[in-house]
Amino acid sequence: MSKLRSNSRASAPAKVILFGEHFVIYNNPAILMSIDKRILVNAQLISDHGIHILSEFQEPLRCTFSGGKLNKFDEVGKSPLFPICDAILRSIPDKIHDTGIEISIESDIPIGVGLGSSAASCVATVAAVGNLFRNPDRRSICLKAMESEALIHKGSSGADCFAATYGGMIYYIKNRGFNRVKSHEKLHLLLINTGVKHSTWSMVSKVEDFKKQNISRFKEVCKRAYEICDKGRAALQSGDQEEIGILMNENHKLLQTVGASHEKVDELVELCNKNGALGSKLTGAGGGGSVIALVKERDYYRFTLELIGRKYEALPVTIDNIGLEIH
Ligand code: PMV
Repeated sequence: MSKLRSNSRASAPAKVILFGEHFVIYNNPAILMSIDKRILVNAQLISDHGIHILSEFQEPLRCTFSGGKLNKFDEVGKSPLFPICDAILRSIPDKIHDTGIEISIESDIPIGVGLGSSAASCVATVAAVGNLFRNPDRRSICLKAMESEALIHKGSSGADCFAATYGGMIYYIKNRGFNRVKSHEKLHLLLINTGVKHSTWSMVSKVEDFKKQNISRFKEVCKRAYEICDKGRAALQSGDQEEIGILMNENHKLLQTVGASHEKVDELVELCNKNGALGSKLTGAGGGGSVIALVKERDYYRFTLELIGRKYEALPVTIDNIGLEIH
């Protein structure tokens, strides 16, 4: 196998989860929407036989590898960039022994607030590095990125990687893939950061503990979450925004029940609904992170100003229909 090019660039979008986070781990569906915030990975071949990762947000990571495996594994394993390092290794063909890889990461996706920044960075990394050696297809990129992302939390549903790869709005079930959802109308969505950082892994463990201690209650909640997701898909397709809002509120209550919320999230959801949102809920793993609110077009400006006036970071988000892009 030879090299195709000496440098390459790929970018992938962040996402919000409109319905079904956490329950998607237990084979329920989730509806995800890719949004107009991106991570860009530049990859280049280097003569130094190593992996260099430069990121705006983390300490640079440098390591060496041989035979497709990392040397000094233990030190690298502690770095927050370890999944990216793994994604690079997975994307270098076995027979390449005479080169190193340097990547640099630029991003406008806030980290640790439920927008899928780690999945987007794994997807863009696999694509940019893979593209140095061959023309990789989307499916294999997505599957490799999922394996690297699973290093952060083993039970990952893979939903975020699918959203980052394929873009648009998707109805996703773990191990079964996804169907596209065509929203009938433009959604006026606002993403509000609680300012509380979370760890996806610890929130997933918390919900798992709830499940273990409340087996029959958890089953009931999952059943209702499934119905909400299916009704949500129908409401998105028919453009029934009032119904979408009602279902978002109900989905949030289920997330509260299983312990995925946080007092700051609940405060914010209440504030959004008091100020005329059609509905709002946590998005992503919860325990802080972000709230997503659906607002009527005519209320959008007033609503945004109200939140900004209360010192919240409120970000208008629109759908990204591109997904992974290899530049
Ligand atoms: O990592 P986050 O905050 O984007 O959340 C991921 C969504 C979960 O359902 C909580 C986890 C998963 O693997 O689907």
